[in-house]
Amino acid sequence: MAAERPRVWVSQPLFDDIVGRLDEYFEVEANREVADHAPARIAAALHEADGALITLNEPVGADEVAQASRLRVLANVAVGYNNLDVPALSKAGILVTNTPDVLTETTADLGFALMMAAARRITEAERWLREGQWRGWSFRSLLGADIHGSTLGILGMGRIGQGIARRAGGFGMRVLYHNRSRLPEAVERECGAEYVAFDALLARADHLVLVLPYSAQSRHIVDAAALAKMKPSATLTNIARGGLIDEDALADALAGGRLAAAGLDVFEGEPAVNPRLLALRNVVLTPHIGSGSLATRRAMVSLAVDNLIAALGRGPHAGRPPTPVNADALAR
Ligand code: GLV
Repeated sequence: MAAERPRVWVSQPLFDDIVGRLDEYFEVEANREVADHAPARIAAALHEADGALITLNEPVGADEVAQASRLRVLANVAVGYNNLDVPALSKAGILVTNTPDVLTETTADLGFALMMAAARRITEAERWLREGQWRGWSFRSLLGADIHGSTLGILGMGRIGQGIARRAGGFGMRVLYHNRSRLPEAVERECGAEYVAFDALLARADHLVLVLPYSAQSRHIVDAAALAKMKPSATLTNIARGGLIDEDALADALAGGRLAAAGLDVFEGEPAVNPRLLALRNVVLTPHIGSGSLATRRAMVSLAVDNLIAALGRGPHAGRPPTPVNADALAR
């Protein structure tokens, strides 16, 4: 009798031609509609599965895997994995994989675009034009801040932060960064970036971009006290996770003229957006599209599929998933 094929769950519609590679090895249960799965639905889907391809929309922790006795791997289609309780999953012997590298440049592009849009008031100007308020060219309307020749501050200098720093060189920006640990000198030189303390970063940046991972420690790292240290003429861009910013404090600063503008791709309660931010003109808002080019989203799914196949002991890299997060779980 043929051995039973492993079962995998695909939580959201991704790209059929890429996800279809799973059919060669597994019984696949693929969700056909975009869904906001309740925790009980996630637990039920994982109960019978050996592996799953999941997205940031699916939080998984000890409760969701309590009955999932066969589950060996969760392949997250994202570089960030704050939707997953990695210590609890490691304890349960479940491997987590993510999709680093393939999205670095695309996400850095969006960070730069949002920063520029906030500084030059692009979406605000477009709205003003569409509202029919442009009644004659005016020398003094919608004046923004320069990017070229200004000081860029990068908080979190991983792969995406470094991508933003490299772009800044082309605009003649001075680049300051702060990170948990200082980068090797050669990398600093290649990025043209200077390490400074957190407070100095806040005080000196004309444009501050957040690219650090979200955790209990980094939650609200940009709060009212941090915002008060920034220049009133500065902009703040967030392409990492919404919870890094105290959004009410940000709305206060933007409304009170204590910060010029913000560019936000991520929100603490997404898909809900703080209504105070929605009401402000000096904030550019995008719906978490940092890695959202077609080529990059396809590359992310492809990498996640490779991880899933390899982690379940199939395919050319059997037993060696390319990008594990908690490789120690493999040993269990
Ligand atoms: C997106 O936010 C990601 O972490 O890939």
